[in-house]
Amino acid sequence: MSILNILRYPDPRLHKVAKPVTQFDERLKQLVADMAETMYEAPGVGLAASQVDVHEQLVVIDVSETNDQLQVFINPEILWASEEKKVYDEGCLSVPGVYDGVERPAEVKVRALDVDGKAFELHADGLLAVCIQHEMDHLKGKVFVEYLSPLKRNRIKTKMLKEEREEQRQRSARR
Ligand code: NI
Repeated sequence: MSILNILRYPDPRLHKVAKPVTQFDERLKQLVADMAETMYEAPGVGLAASQVDVHEQLVVIDVSETNDQLQVFINPEILWASEEKKVYDEGCLSVPGVYDGVERPAEVKVRALDVDGKAFELHADGLLAVCIQHEMDHLKGKVFVEYLSPLKRNRIKTKMLKEEREEQRQRSARR
């Protein structure tokens, strides 16, 4: 297994639209294992393939406290979303250190395929519902900061670019 590089906002590759997965083979299983390892190591509760520069409809999530309940969603679709909405303070491994409130349906019903290509349906609420919607946005090329005001978004963009420059400077200074 290996840790994958997570793209950071505002990398334009985060805005690519993911294609459906068509091959349920060893390569897919390896990718799922690597994405899970990358998510746990970060640590985070969810990771979309788009974030590791693989533009296929694949998401891994683990909202358990014990980090032992990996859920894999391939080609996920929202079948139903509740009228009731909730605001949750979201964060993202592609936007490290930034948390802000996003309003989304409180409950969703999802259909997806597992790693063997078998279909399943799931009714989610709470953090899992937030996480599924957040990760599915990544597959459409959308990062959660796009729900925030243009002013906030620009501040975040500037902060991210500044941090990236700073890290690059430190890396080259160590050489
Ligand atoms: Ni994210």
